[in-house]
Amino acid sequence: MIKIAPSILSADFSKLREEIDTVSSAEYLHLDVMDGSFVPEITFGAGVVKSIRKFSRQIFDVHLMVEHPETQIDSFVAAGADLITFHIEATKHAHRLIQKIHASKIKAGVALNPATPLVMVEEILGDVDQVLIMTVNPGYGGQKFIDSQLDKIHRLREKFHCDIEVDGGINPETSKLVKESGANVLVAGSAIFNAKDRSKAIQSVRGN
Ligand code: DX5
Ligand code: ZN
Repeated sequence: MIKIAPSILSADFSKLREEIDTVSSAEYLHLDVMDGSFVPEITFGAGVVKSIRKFSRQIFDVHLMVEHPETQIDSFVAAGADLITFHIEATKHAHRLIQKIHASKIKAGVALNPATPLVMVEEILGDVDQVLIMTVNPGYGGQKFIDSQLDKIHRLREKFHCDIEVDGGINPETSKLVKESGANVLVAGSAIFNAKDRSKAIQSVRGN
């Protein structure tokens, strides 16, 4: 099943509630947490997630682009995350971190930057609920899709039967390519929030 995850990074933060209401037809809400160290920018933390949890029933898909992700799990669980994805490049103890996330009764995902090979997560594929393949270098919305990641998605699908999420440069055209390669959770920021009709944009990214 294809699931769409609008990324609020491209939303107007001055009216976040209204913005989130416009994307309620999507299964997930993608929450990009940046710390100014793992990636250059800073976005928001668990406090903001807790506030928006009160009015959204979507699955909260927290994408931690932070160093030392292990220090953030408890706060985001308490804030209402349903799924926490950390970067393999940001931790030395991925297996322990997955156990910590699962101990909180929520789902765990692992993300890979475009330059990170699949072999980095090979030993934990049986432990995670989702693998996130970055199709841009993390840090900003509105970047161009990196085509070379399609082959990575394809190779991962051959051995991984849970959710494969893709993030970065997803629009109605690239959506088709990533789905053909085996991805089933599609993050889209600018393609959805830059559109006037968000429900229509969600449908276009979903495709048929
Ligand atoms: C990038 C973030 C993405 C971002 C995607 O580092 O992880 O979730 O919002 O934005 P688009 O869809 O505009 O490439
Ligand atoms: Zn993201």
